[in-house]
Amino acid sequence: MENRIELIKTEALEALSQVADAEQIKSLSVKYLGRKGLLTLFLRNISELPAEDRPEAGKQANIVKKELEAAFDAALNRAEARNRENPEDAIDVSLPGRPVTRGTLHPITHVTRQICGIFSRMGFDIAEGPEVETDYYNFEALNIPKNHPARDMQDTFYVSDNIVLRTHTSPIQVHIMEENAPPVRIVAPGKVYRCDSDLTHTPMFHQVEGLLVDTDVSFGDLKGVLEAFVHEMFDETISLRFRPSFFPFTEPSAEVDIVCVMCRGKGCKVCSNTGWLEVLGCGMVHPAVFENVGYDTRKYTGFAFGMGVERLAMLKYGINDLRMFFESDYRFLRQF
Ligand code: PHE
Repeated sequence: MENRIELIKTEALEALSQVADAEQIKSLSVKYLGRKGLLTLFLRNISELPAEDRPEAGKQANIVKKELEAAFDAALNRAEARNRENPEDAIDVSLPGRPVTRGTLHPITHVTRQICGIFSRMGFDIAEGPEVETDYYNFEALNIPKNHPARDMQDTFYVSDNIVLRTHTSPIQVHIMEENAPPVRIVAPGKVYRCDSDLTHTPMFHQVEGLLVDTDVSFGDLKGVLEAFVHEMFDETISLRFRPSFFPFTEPSAEVDIVCVMCRGKGCKVCSNTGWLEVLGCGMVHPAVFENVGYDTRKYTGFAFGMGVERLAMLKYGINDLRMFFESDYRFLRQF
């Protein structure tokens, strides 16, 4: 009987001396001391021994059990200490690494940064404003009267009678001028909202607003700044034209076309065979707007402009479907 216990003990210690790894030690421990382990089974079967052998066998088996438990514990501690000291023993450095997929900037973010970067290098500061606006900032202060078609329920998302989702970034002009005395020189990127949805319109899109106010600012300055911008954004050979237009908050107002970046003016599908693409709205700040923010209209003049980021991004990267920006298709997004 004692032989049987001694045999289990020698065998267990012998096996233990052959392994060094924590996982192997644990599975050996299960083999001998686990619920169905060899020593456990022996202890369970003691009742089948002749009555006079039972006390001695029980005593021996319990001693061996304690010895083995101590031996396994010690081996496990040594293995774990080794892993702590030499992590390279614990990690198989020859395994191939797991690739970490990195995100990329959304093309709209990318182009917004490009636009702001160009103006920033010309000395403009970056500004921001709230997306939820009062009627006053979105319309009234910008000289857009109560009955103006731009206020139509079909275009504007109303939160309540007096609160709207901004329909353009121009209200940022008003915030900036209320808070800062001239000279002012800012560009302001942001989301805008219009109740409009089809192949070429989305209810939310992005604009970058520009505002410069100082003494002796002329329409010539506006043309120079926008020309420098377009040449940086596209290339030196892209010429611009200013078409008379109307915005309630600028006078005179203009829309700016650039030579079609796809066909270089020859005429194609993208420019509807005109050779020109409309890219932004602009003008000299209307005196009524200056009065609303308390600027001296005899002393200061200024210009403002606003452009659509999606439109510029499509032209810059030759993207022909506006929906690509909103579908989060990884195959599209990872290209930027
Ligand atoms: N806010 C105008 C729009 O959304 C663009 C604009 C901005 C025009 C500034 C003139 C001056 O269309």
